[in-house]
Amino acid sequence: MAALLKLHPPSRTNKAGGLITCSWAIWLFIVGLLCIQVESASLKDSIKLLKKPELISNIDSPTFSFQVGDAESSCTNCTSSCKLDDLRPSNCSSGEISYTKLQDGNHTFEVCINGSHPIHCVTYNWTIDTVPPTAAVTASTSFTNGSSVSVYVSFSEPCGGGIRCLSVNDCSLLAYGPGNVIPSTLKIIKPNREFSISLNMSTSVEYGRVVLVTDKGFCKDAARNQFTRTKASWFFVHFDRRDVYVDLRTRIPEQLLPLNNNVRLVQATNKPKNLKLYLYFTQPIVNTSAEVLKSITVSQGSLITMSLVKDI
Ligand SMILES: *[C@@H]1O[C@H](CO)[C@@H](O)[C@H](O)[C@H]1NC(C)=O
Ligand SMILES: *[C@@H]1O[C@H](CO)[C@@H](O)[C@H](O)[C@H]1NC(C)=O
Ligand SMILES: *[C@@H]1O[C@H](CO)[C@@H](O)[C@H](O)[C@H]1NC(C)=O
Ligand SMILES: *[C@@H]1O[C@H](CO)[C@@H](O)[C@H](O)[C@H]1NC(C)=O
Ligand SMILES: *[C@@H]1O[C@H](CO)[C@@H](O)[C@H](O)[C@H]1NC(C)=O
Ligand SMILES: *[C@@H]1O[C@H](CO)[C@@H](O)[C@H](O)[C@H]1NC(C)=O
Ligand SMILES: *[C@@H]1O[C@H](CO)[C@@H](O)[C@H](O)[C@H]1NC(C)=O
Ligand SMILES: *[C@@H]1O[C@H](CO)[C@@H](O)[C@H](O)[C@H]1NC(C)=O
Repeated sequence: MAALLKLHPPSRTNKAGGLITCSWAIWLFIVGLLCIQVESASLKDSIKLLKKPELISNIDSPTFSFQVGDAESSCTNCTSSCKLDDLRPSNCSSGEISYTKLQDGNHTFEVCINGSHPIHCVTYNWTIDTVPPTAAVTASTSFTNGSSVSVYVSFSEPCGGGIRCLSVNDCSLLAYGPGNVIPSTLKIIKPNREFSISLNMSTSVEYGRVVLVTDKGFCKDAARNQFTRTKASWFFVHFDRRDVYVDLRTRIPEQLLPLNNNVRLVQATNKPKNLKLYLYFTQPIVNTSAEVLKSITVSQGSLITMSLVKDI
């Protein structure tokens, strides 16, 4: 109303009567407009949401409370109705309303006051997210004979600043076994989402296994859900610098035969085909059967198919 008091009607000292009438009409129109605006603004401002969920929240059963008017101009005869998304409006004249078990996603809350004034509403949009962030850990290889591999951590959604690694003992990626992550090699591949870091494995051990896993609950998402480890948060790197040996064996009958006064072990058969040759590797190999077959040479005859008898 203060704004209205400062306005004065056009002066009556104007000489042309037509102009005066015209000015009065405009003046009244302006005053009318201002009245409507001031009134609607004051009522709109007078609906205050006192309690509401955060804009991004992990609470699926939120409570809203609101106040109509202030101490001076409380709206005694008003009724309020509250509406959530596309649901039917409900009476919330008590000034408070709760919803339970809402789904994740965007929601709209609207409270409308129906009093002597035209209806006024206030809406509040917010997002519910109850899914905790997770991360998958992988490496450039799970088997190596080297001393270093690149490790990748990929988050399901932004979680705090992601991987933090200030020192070997203060790192959100943990390594168990004969290996260490190298903090200085931490790189951001995709901000908040993908990170890489080097893992060095002990060179004083010939073979072993390093277990990589993200730390527990080390970050939170925008809705404050705490990071949760999953099966994918674990990764095993095997290193092995041992040479691989292979034993060749056949099922051809063995016999001890005296030859030139010496007793010798002799393998002999009268079957000319389908003689079986067995290869026993000291460690699992990655090569295909065809590759192994190619690496065997025979002085006579030929090797045909090859099949896996026992996997590890
Ligand atoms: C409230 O509304 C009722 C009827 O709707 C009316 O009789 C009463 O005078 C109103 N009270 C105020 C304070 O406006
Ligand atoms: C809404 O609830 C209030 C009491 O909380 C009651 O006085 C009022 O009549 C109700 N209004 C409607 C439209 O049901
Ligand atoms: C939810 O709202 C946010 C921000 O208001 C928007 O970026 C996002 O696209 C919306 N999501 C859906 C599924 O509508
Ligand atoms: C507003 O109140 C009037 C009378 O109390 C009622 O007829 C009307 O349906 C109400 N409107 C809404 C949107 O609640
Ligand atoms: C709230 O969301 C609805 C639907 O997504 C949109 O139409 C409306 O403009 C939004 N209101 C505000 C205040 O952001
Ligand atoms: C690892 O294996 C490659 C061949 O696959 C070989 O050239 C290299 O010398 C090996 N490195 C070590 C440390 O044994
Ligand atoms: C990690 O391994 C790389 C490559 O093998 C090497 O250059 C580097 O010095 C090692 N770093 C540490 C801290 O052992
Ligand atoms: C066996 O596999 C390794 C690694 O893939 C390869 O370097 C090697 O050449 C293979 N050996 C044969 C005989 O093909």
